[in-house]
Amino acid sequence: MAAMEKTGKLWGGRFTGDTDPVMEKFNASIGFDNRMWKADIEGSKAYVKAICKVGLVTEEEKDMISHGLTQVADEWEKGQFTIKPGDEDIHTANERRLKEFIGPVAGKLHTGRSRNDQCATDMRLWLRDSIEYMYPMVKNLINVLVQRARQEVDVLMPGYTHMQRAQPIRWSHWLLSHGWALQRDAQRLKELQARVNVMPLGGGALAGNPFNVNREVLAHELKFGSPSPNSLDGTSGRDFVAEFLFWASMTMIHLSKVSEDLILYSSKEFSFVKLADAYSTGSSLMPQKKNADSLELIRGKTGRVFGKCSGFLMTLKGLPSTYNKDLQEDKEAMFDAYDTLTGVLQVATGVISTLTIFPETMRTALSPDMLSTDLAYYLVRKGIPFREAHGFSGECVALAEQKNCSLVDLTLEDLQTINPLFEEDVVHVFDYENSVEQYSSSGGTSKQCVLTQASQLEMWITSH
Ligand code: ARG
Repeated sequence: MAAMEKTGKLWGGRFTGDTDPVMEKFNASIGFDNRMWKADIEGSKAYVKAICKVGLVTEEEKDMISHGLTQVADEWEKGQFTIKPGDEDIHTANERRLKEFIGPVAGKLHTGRSRNDQCATDMRLWLRDSIEYMYPMVKNLINVLVQRARQEVDVLMPGYTHMQRAQPIRWSHWLLSHGWALQRDAQRLKELQARVNVMPLGGGALAGNPFNVNREVLAHELKFGSPSPNSLDGTSGRDFVAEFLFWASMTMIHLSKVSEDLILYSSKEFSFVKLADAYSTGSSLMPQKKNADSLELIRGKTGRVFGKCSGFLMTLKGLPSTYNKDLQEDKEAMFDAYDTLTGVLQVATGVISTLTIFPETMRTALSPDMLSTDLAYYLVRKGIPFREAHGFSGECVALAEQKNCSLVDLTLEDLQTINPLFEEDVVHVFDYENSVEQYSSSGGTSKQCVLTQASQLEMWITSH
């Protein structure tokens, strides 16, 4: 009796006993790796061409297999594929179904191939396409930030360090700060795609391909940049998954920071922004509440994605060379990060594009003490060394406190008791517009600089 008939398993030859049903379930990846059905079919179609070229299957057999694979694909496409007990993973399931369609010739497809090179290839195909889908989402979000930044460039707000009011900045400067972080995320995603796009197929279980299959042609057929240069590395290397998970984690970390700011800014205490109803929810108990659930979920899911990354790195650590079943853990981590990120990117884009801002409240939150650095710069421009100017400005702050008034309410005489270089023109320091406009070296918060940043990001978006 042929091995497969005996146990119904691809690897059944030397096994006689049954698998414990609990083990069967534990071992199976079909529950999640069926998402890669298309990649699996695509890989098989290319592989059958490659083995035909070296005479392992005839032209006729190749056509039969290829046509059979199309039939299998059709079933997946129409949602009609029935997973059967014993379909351990997508590779097993597709081959089982192929055999049902075309008979024993299906058994030739796997010649020289192993699920080890096959599953690594499928994952890379799947991820390559998924990156293609995700990349424009990141760019779209950057674009939303840029367009808002242009429209709202005149809005000023307090900039914070240590969550304390620090210096006045443009709201657009804040928006674009997150745009730049996301631009690096987008770049990283594209860069890692090149490392994803390397083909393990033809690596076999570990040692390579003994039938003279031309892997360069095979790679070309599957639009891979190149075949993996070492079969041991190709079949077991999963740094491309780890890299993707890091990318996802870093992107989430960036988005969690945007979220945290906006959650604070949307609180009654700040009231700088209001989320659209489409992205907030109410409380079942407190009628007055409007919660920023969308942003809290983004912030919260950051932990989940980072967990996938750190968890999978732990899986990889210290693995002995080449394929070990531990590696099957790669898929759920990858899928979950993908699902989370695609959701998060869309919601973040929605939240930011529909946000209402309250420029007046932002401006009211500016306070003259935030100009004390500028007061020191006033003296610097009159030739006082910064360290001393800082001291004089500090004395002004102290005097205002002592007189129980604000810095702007100090008279010229008051200021001159601290330093005679203060003159009438000191009033210009106490103007928030003037304050932000001083920061005109590139990267600063002056209007021109902020608009330049917007143009730079726009140019990047159109050229990438
Ligand atoms: N389902 C397996 C995985 O996802 C496929 C590879 C199985 N290879 C093996 N030698 N058991 O990793």
